[in-house]
Amino acid sequence: MQKEELILILDFCGQYNQLIARRVRECNVYCEIVRHDISAEEVKKRGAKGVIFTGGPASVYAENAPKCDPEIFNIGIPVLGICYGMQLMTYTLGGKVERAEKREYGETEVKLGESILFDGFGDENICLMSHTDYVESLPEGFERIAYTPSCPYAAIENKDKQFYGIQFHAEVNNTVNGITFLDNFVKKICGCSGSWKMSSFAKETVEALREKIGDGKALCALSGGVDSSVAAALLNEAIGENLTCIFVDHGLLRKNEGDEVEEVFGKRFKSKFIRVNAEERFLIKLAGVDDPETKRKIIGEEFIKVFEEEAKKIGKVDYLVQGTIYPDVVESGKGIGATIKSHHNVGGLPDYVDFKEIVEPLRDLFKDEVRKVGRELGIPDYLVDRQPFPGPGLAIRVIGDITKEKLDILRDADYIFREELERDGINKEANQYFAVLTNVRSVGVMGDYRTYDYMLALRAVTTADFMTAAFTRIPYDTLERVSARIVNEVKHINRVVYDITSKPPATVEWE
Ligand code: XMP
Repeated sequence: MQKEELILILDFCGQYNQLIARRVRECNVYCEIVRHDISAEEVKKRGAKGVIFTGGPASVYAENAPKCDPEIFNIGIPVLGICYGMQLMTYTLGGKVERAEKREYGETEVKLGESILFDGFGDENICLMSHTDYVESLPEGFERIAYTPSCPYAAIENKDKQFYGIQFHAEVNNTVNGITFLDNFVKKICGCSGSWKMSSFAKETVEALREKIGDGKALCALSGGVDSSVAAALLNEAIGENLTCIFVDHGLLRKNEGDEVEEVFGKRFKSKFIRVNAEERFLIKLAGVDDPETKRKIIGEEFIKVFEEEAKKIGKVDYLVQGTIYPDVVESGKGIGATIKSHHNVGGLPDYVDFKEIVEPLRDLFKDEVRKVGRELGIPDYLVDRQPFPGPGLAIRVIGDITKEKLDILRDADYIFREELERDGINKEANQYFAVLTNVRSVGVMGDYRTYDYMLALRAVTTADFMTAAFTRIPYDTLERVSARIVNEVKHINRVVYDITSKPPATVEWE
């Protein structure tokens, strides 16, 4: 990967931090989010061409406010401070920050003066302001380059030293042409050429993996999800049959899913592919279990056992491949300091497989970048565009106890639902959509017969991060067609309902 043009983004825990990274990469400049307390020495060592300080919820005067190594200002590279980042720069360099009585929030008309940062803009621009503290007086060598009626310093610069501060959030869509501010910074101020492209990622990563692994052997737990599929595809390209993919089919996948994975990885790829058909094992373990958390636990443990048994047959491998992606790294706190959540992809399998090292070729990429790489490697759209699917699979979408019969009913109904939503293009709006087989039975009438069968629930949500989600507004006509098809085509379902609860208070999954 072409990393010689690196921008480092110092994380001060702002909610838009990942978005800043996304935007910089959209300018075709490679960047990484790093801890806010990274040393100036390290920044220098990594050869960063510029540094961006993110926003953050703290006040610079607060006791535990995150600070930066002040030596960063002596390296001689440009710095852009956004919101809290601008306040911290001001404070660190001897200016003054104050707390306003009222928070300034919303899309605001910002008056822009002369600055390279504003190339391509007129003398005003709508920008998103979201702050309570504000810069009251500037450090030496700085000038005001923008203001709003309630913010005397909406942007500042020290042209000689190439230090810039913006109080507004250039990274969000609410700021008109916000990306241009960042593009000006990384290219015109930091001097990056903007030649980093996703298309070169696959090629360079394959070469780097080949060099690193040589004749070594690698093992990959392939789930059929986007991340593990793309990671496996990179390794397949790099080391061919020295990679073995183990695909544990627990029998809880959606219709045709197991075969689709096998079709790509088992037939088209050079790597060794082992599909373990473990449905029976899982169903025996799950028989009579209706508690969701117990289901999850059983599936997790059984998965590990099956994988371990297969891995043992292969013996010692040099590398274990994981499909960890950038948000996993950031979320689990391995990339930066202040985050809390642990993630199942990071530090999951390694404990029980005999290997030398983990390779995580997608560690630096965002999800849609992973999809782009997948496409370049020839993975079909149905795998690359796959919506998120929980590890425990349909086991948590059959409410109550699980049987093969119920799973088959659900698979057929879920397939129809997905097919119809995709036909009407609603999949572009819904980020996750699936059917749930409830354990409610109700009375119906079909022809001359009374039926007493299952009620199926449909769920579709629109969300950016799955932490919160709104139910997708599916048109009635689509719902009607889905319902008619399911009741007609899938035996044992006589009633279909649509879940109109958002998250919170509900979760996306029913169990
Ligand atoms: P909830 O139901 O918590 O789901 O609102 C949020 C997202 O997480 C997925 N999910 C899971 N993924 N193992 C997983 O790998 C699980 O046990 C699990 N439970 C929920 C869910 O599909 C949604 O995308």
